[in-house]
Amino acid sequence: MSEASLPFNEKIFPRKLLKEEWERSIKKTEEYWAEKAKAISWFKTWDKVLDDSNPPFYRWFVGGILNICYNALDRHLETPRKHQLAYIWEGEPGDVRTFTYYQIYREVNKLAQILKDFGLKKGDRVAVYLPMIPELPITLLATTRLGGIHTVVFSGFSAEALADRINDCQAKIVITADGSYRRGKIVPLKETADRALANTPTVEKVIVVKRTGQQIPMKEGRDHYYHEVMAKVAPNAYVPPEPMEATEPLFILYTSGTTGKPKGVQHGIGGYLVWAYWTLKWGFSPNEEDIWWCTADIGWITGHTYNVYAPLALGTTSFIFEGTPDYPACDRWWEMIERHGITILYTTPTAIRMFMRFGEEWVNKHDLSTLRLLGSVGEAINPEAWKWYYRVIGKEKLPIIDTWWQTETGGFMISPLAGLELVPLKPGSATNPLPGVYPEVYNEKGEIAPISTRGFLVIKAPWPGMLETLWKDPERYKQTYFGRWPNTYYTGDYAVKDPDGYFWLLGRADEVLKVAGHRIGTVELESELVSHPAVSEAAVMGKEDPVKGEVPVAFVVLRSGYTPSEELRQQLVQHIRSTIGPIATPEAIVIVNKLPKTRSGKIMRRLLKAVLVGAALGDISTLEDEASVEDIKATYEELRKQIEKKQ
Ligand code: PRX
Repeated sequence: MSEASLPFNEKIFPRKLLKEEWERSIKKTEEYWAEKAKAISWFKTWDKVLDDSNPPFYRWFVGGILNICYNALDRHLETPRKHQLAYIWEGEPGDVRTFTYYQIYREVNKLAQILKDFGLKKGDRVAVYLPMIPELPITLLATTRLGGIHTVVFSGFSAEALADRINDCQAKIVITADGSYRRGKIVPLKETADRALANTPTVEKVIVVKRTGQQIPMKEGRDHYYHEVMAKVAPNAYVPPEPMEATEPLFILYTSGTTGKPKGVQHGIGGYLVWAYWTLKWGFSPNEEDIWWCTADIGWITGHTYNVYAPLALGTTSFIFEGTPDYPACDRWWEMIERHGITILYTTPTAIRMFMRFGEEWVNKHDLSTLRLLGSVGEAINPEAWKWYYRVIGKEKLPIIDTWWQTETGGFMISPLAGLELVPLKPGSATNPLPGVYPEVYNEKGEIAPISTRGFLVIKAPWPGMLETLWKDPERYKQTYFGRWPNTYYTGDYAVKDPDGYFWLLGRADEVLKVAGHRIGTVELESELVSHPAVSEAAVMGKEDPVKGEVPVAFVVLRSGYTPSEELRQQLVQHIRSTIGPIATPEAIVIVNKLPKTRSGKIMRRLLKAVLVGAALGDISTLEDEASVEDIKATYEELRKQIEKKQ
């Protein structure tokens, strides 16, 4: 690679460390990662750092043997970390539980013993449908201790979504809870799980954590209360950590793509762990005095990597929270930061924008002087939100670590690095790539886009944290990520590189929405809508939203025999909530007579987008029926006024 193509610019990047690390990582990849992988405890070291003989199926640390749970827990028992806190957890009602590394090790061994007694073997899948309670990380660790593969389904997902995921990976065991708390109310999780479990033939055992305590049906022989089975295991139970090949699967996490069916992103053990460890260390360098708070639910990749594997591998103390930011009051987070002395806050632009709305007086009631670093993830942080975060939370003293990455990348990819060398920040830019990451911005033809021109963000070389494949669907993996340009990972994001070599992420280039940072495929919503008996056709678009970034708006055409009504619209909203989950709730359902189509029958999404943003329609000469779009415009305007009135 020529010097000119390196993404760094000397002018703004006068210091050397990151640049040197980056260059070495790209030019001497295997040597570099062999050195970094020493931070991990291996039962046997690898034979080959990177096997790239069968692209795009890259294999990291081939021949290496390790156990991720051992790395997260056992290895700290020989150090002073043994009796330091691994987790401080706070429930929504205000209950607090803490776990030292030793205590969590004990819990994990006991649960591993139960899973083993229930027949879980290396390679078997465990589906986890839990709220943010300590049993969630405990479950992941107990599963991986035995060499099992976990798939966590966010507890806000519907029964149908849960059943689909359980069936796709053929999970043998499900771990759930009786309920969870949300804004003072009980969410009946087990009820939802039971609806899913009616259609999941592979599930043999269900373990139920008692969180909310109400009466729930328990199926004889299948369902077991967590506390009851745990009470029967010896307190000093020890289950040896299963020696695993570095390339064996660690977990499957389903995420939305451009087709209806969510993709089972499969991460492997060795590469992912090395990546998790180094990205957190470089990004935020948590030390022994820190209390790290990543606000993501463990149902998402951010929670997997930065609430479980990375902080535990580093021996960090993490804070985890069950509730919502505005309950019982809008200062819940700031009150907790003050009370627990949290030092690093890693959250989302959506949360920041919500706090901006609440007003800074809520923040200013609290002493946030323990904070030393701030982070952002999930979507681009708009400069106004960045500045507010910097001024009101960071008191103009703390850097903002804006981390760009994806479920598929395992960990941070483009981000300022407080733990390596902090570059000058620009509000709204994720700055430069981490060592090992070789990003580029391409135009439509796959050529490097000129500086300051929008193009497609691609990654040109494999990195240890990358997904291994899509679960049982290697062809889709190849097509989705490497189908556009050979041996080049396609991120699905738009980006520009500025004259200083900084990357600015500009949102998705495909049919994927980011609603409050959550990834939702428009096609997924469309297929659920047309599965409703009243709907014949649907087109879902993202509309800009001041807090959530984006919200879905659905344009639907009804089948004959159905007439538009507010009631039907509500029914369709409810249908989405119960088939996908509340996070996918459309802001509006616009019932129209016809969707704008070309003469060849393709929906002209561009026109729907123009209607949403109130922009000019542009060229409509290919439109089959010009009147349809005027009709849609009028219907949408009508609805928009109604929504505005309600707000
Ligand atoms: O569009 C990018 C956006 O989130 C997408 C990945 O979503 P998901 O797999 O759910 O993972 C979210 C947590 C890592 C990306 O394709 N995204 C994530 N972080 C940023 C971002 N966009 C801009 N800036 C970010 N910091």
